[in-house]
Amino acid sequence: MARSSFPVTSRAHDSVAVLDFGSQTAQLIARRVRGAGVYAELFHWDTPADTVMALQPKGFILSGGPASVYEPGAPILPRYVLDSGLPVLGICYGMQLLTHTLGGQVAASQAREYGPARLHLSGYAPLWLGLPSRLEVWMSHGDRIEEIPPSFTPIAASDNSPVAAMGDPERAYFGVQFHPEVSHTQHGEDILANFLLEVCGCGPTWAPAAFIEESVEALRAQIGAGKVVLGLSGGVDSAVTAALLQRAVGEQLTSIFVDHGLLRQGESEQVIQTFQDAMGMRLVAVNAVEEFMEALEGVDDPEAKRLRIGELFVRTFEAEAQKLGDVDFLAQGTIYPDVIESAAQPGTDSPTAQRIKSHHNVGGLPPDMDFELVEPLRFLFKDEVRRVGEELGLPEGIVWRQPFPGPGLAVRCLGAVTWDRLERLRAADAILIEELRKAGLLREVAQAFAVLLPVRSVGVMGDERTYQETVALRAVSTDDFMTAGWVRLPHDLLARVSNRIVNEVEGVNRVVYDITSKPPATIEWE
Ligand code: XMP
Repeated sequence: MARSSFPVTSRAHDSVAVLDFGSQTAQLIARRVRGAGVYAELFHWDTPADTVMALQPKGFILSGGPASVYEPGAPILPRYVLDSGLPVLGICYGMQLLTHTLGGQVAASQAREYGPARLHLSGYAPLWLGLPSRLEVWMSHGDRIEEIPPSFTPIAASDNSPVAAMGDPERAYFGVQFHPEVSHTQHGEDILANFLLEVCGCGPTWAPAAFIEESVEALRAQIGAGKVVLGLSGGVDSAVTAALLQRAVGEQLTSIFVDHGLLRQGESEQVIQTFQDAMGMRLVAVNAVEEFMEALEGVDDPEAKRLRIGELFVRTFEAEAQKLGDVDFLAQGTIYPDVIESAAQPGTDSPTAQRIKSHHNVGGLPPDMDFELVEPLRFLFKDEVRRVGEELGLPEGIVWRQPFPGPGLAVRCLGAVTWDRLERLRAADAILIEELRKAGLLREVAQAFAVLLPVRSVGVMGDERTYQETVALRAVSTDDFMTAGWVRLPHDLLARVSNRIVNEVEGVNRVVYDITSKPPATIEWE
């Protein structure tokens, strides 16, 4: 399959390059920059200069990182960054690198600074435009600046760091020891915006509306009169890809929606209603429920479930795509974090990382099909994808949908996957979601869902003994889904949900709440 690079529309916008030195928050830096209206791309620190400079950046941001500049093998500041003569903002390790490279001194700090710190701004600097002179900021570092490089001046101090920020306004080099990208830093976004707009001279033109306009043009140029096929899963990414392509090439796009019977209550109807009825898209909705139920019969091992669903999905998709005759392009809802992660780990799976779960995305890639790929969201973060979706007029229920695993409810229906049990699970899940929505909490949690356990216990209803299954409720908060905490949902909400489930869902007489974080648990139960 040919992977054609989607013509990046960003060239019309001022941009900066974020070099990643291994920080947990490098992606966040790029997101914040884009939030300020300036296009940013993230590059591993030793990406070849040509690749980075092809972005035509107006400045560089150097991320933090776990290393110490004096450690053997520690990442270095690539030469072209300083040779370019462009403004540089170093954050944490990035600041230490600037110091080390430009003739200053970095040393291990006696007191590690981790968490909130009070910053006192001193001296005039364009970074501080419009800010109060004291700020609460977020620090996370072991090393500190002992001696600043010649021509720099200190521009802020904290209790443990006499040089918590420094600048050389002449060369437009700045370093901050704290993390302006995290939400715990007061005015962090303003500091970044000052760097971008005042120091780099960027214009804040990057916005979803502009993205749509330019993408539509670029997609038309790429696709010409070709035919495009897309796998619609009901998830946000494929939905927004579909809506964008629909706007660009209309009738040349056919979307295939495989209904495997493993979606939540009302979801398949909503997909068909939104795309076929409301948007007038050419949509092939395949009812493959029976085939999937058959494939899952007698299968209760989590990995076996995932593999069977993945295989059957690809086969079903392929069979439908073949019926369309000649197709030139396969559109996919790949988004920027997918691109970053696969660049960080060549191949799909890291050779050393243990496989926890076989992930697959409905709408995923049939491996040997002869199409060219179209991935218009390849450079967007999730929040940008959502804003583009809103701008394209997709309904809130689709744009703000929580992440949902490719194998669907099969991995939330522990034990045997039967239609009856799926219906039971759907009903319980719908109650939880409805109550969260009513309480205004649905958007507050990253993911919330019900799990049906193959555990029966004794209960009493009226005067009768019952012996029925258990529903577990899960609600998590997370930024990146790699780690997650369980949400302290209000007790009265939990009580309402529990009460409604045991009363309204047949076959369930007990409800429990999952109070495990990830790690050690995963978000999904299978
Ligand atoms: P876990 O359970 O691994 O889940 O903590 C992390 C996030 O990934 C979602 N998830 C999947 N997403 N295909 C997907 O596209 C999958 O097979 C899959 N399995 C889990 C899960 O819902 C959570 O958001």
